[in-house]
Amino acid sequence: PFPWYRSMRESQPVYFDTENQFWHVFKYEDASSILNDPATFSSEVFQRLATEEEKKQATAEPSILNLDPPRHRQLRSLVTQAFTPRTVANLTPRISEIVNEYLDRVIDQGRMDIIADLAYPLPVIVIAELLGIPTQDRDLFKHWSDTIVSLRREEAIQAGREMNEYLKQVTEQRRKAPRDDLISKLLAAEVEGQKLSEGELLSFYGLLLVAGNETTTNLIGNAIICFDEHPEAIERLRAQPDLLSGAIEEVLRYRSPVQRLVRVTTTDTTLGGHKIKAGQLVSPWLGSANRDEAQFPNPDTFDISRAPNRHLAFGHGIHFCVGAPLSRLEARVALGSMLARFGEIKRDRAHPLERIPAASAFFGVQKLPITF
Ligand code: HEM
Repeated sequence: PFPWYRSMRESQPVYFDTENQFWHVFKYEDASSILNDPATFSSEVFQRLATEEEKKQATAEPSILNLDPPRHRQLRSLVTQAFTPRTVANLTPRISEIVNEYLDRVIDQGRMDIIADLAYPLPVIVIAELLGIPTQDRDLFKHWSDTIVSLRREEAIQAGREMNEYLKQVTEQRRKAPRDDLISKLLAAEVEGQKLSEGELLSFYGLLLVAGNETTTNLIGNAIICFDEHPEAIERLRAQPDLLSGAIEEVLRYRSPVQRLVRVTTTDTTLGGHKIKAGQLVSPWLGSANRDEAQFPNPDTFDISRAPNRHLAFGHGIHFCVGAPLSRLEARVALGSMLARFGEIKRDRAHPLERIPAASAFFGVQKLPITF
């Protein structure tokens, strides 16, 4: 998509698709000003645009991702109470253990599929453990996560229902007997005398799974693609492992796991000289903003020591990704262990890169076979 982004930034940086009645925004400055102004560019897309019929059929409550202030602020502070940097940092040894278990399974073969053999299962297991899902139910949980993101609509809805039922039960158990896990912490969290309702808890779990897992899988996969295309980057990382965090930021910029977001205007407004009416859909393209030459010198150069690197891959402003520290940590442990344990890492070019469906906002590949 990157050459297309570039030509849009040059010719029509704020573009109205008349057929779909949708605004597309390609420049960094415009994208960040949208994300900085939730009063004009609302995240309550469904609530504002759905028909009464559609609203009646909705099963889940909106999660923080799809709420505006003041409710967003309250829910977010409940969630961040449970999801502290310390909770995340404490996971480091366990993440290391999981990664090494997966690498042990393939180390003698000299080849693996980065996605199936590591990047896919890792975030699912980490989030399951964090929530406090019992070990014996882990496979069930993984099956549901698979099916939910599979785009097989009927099955996905069914799996979603089953998982909801299951999580409801676990939540009830933790209400009676709290443990040291995220579900118990979310149950205990309280702001201004308010707690999360059951519906809010369930949509938050759903958000963790959908927003957190596939994105982290894609971050790890995209990193391997970047490294494969830039062997000099791998050489530098082997010589100086402390460059890894910066390299991950550069992967986030260069191949952003989330390419676009969506907002809806609450009033008439202007953007980049265009008049936008109230109630219209507006999509800031993070993947394009992150390659904007006005913000990043040589934006198409993959530079692991790029500084500053204020990319928008985790969003910006009040909805900035809650899981950013966790996904950074998972990527650091996964990639760091591979660099430490594997010899030369090469993508197996017999398999052309197969992108996940381009209609999705997610950017990554289905399979990524490598040899090492
Ligand atoms: C929000 C990207 C991993 C939980 C967001 C947003 C982006 C994003 C762009 C902002 C959405 C918006 O403004 O509409 C990513 C990327 C990830 C990642 C690229 C991995 C590389 C995770 C993980 C979790 C998570 C691992 C949790 C375990 C959330 C939550 C929000 C969010 C709860 C909503 C925050 C709010 O609305 O206030 N993420 N995410 N994300 N992310 Fe992530």
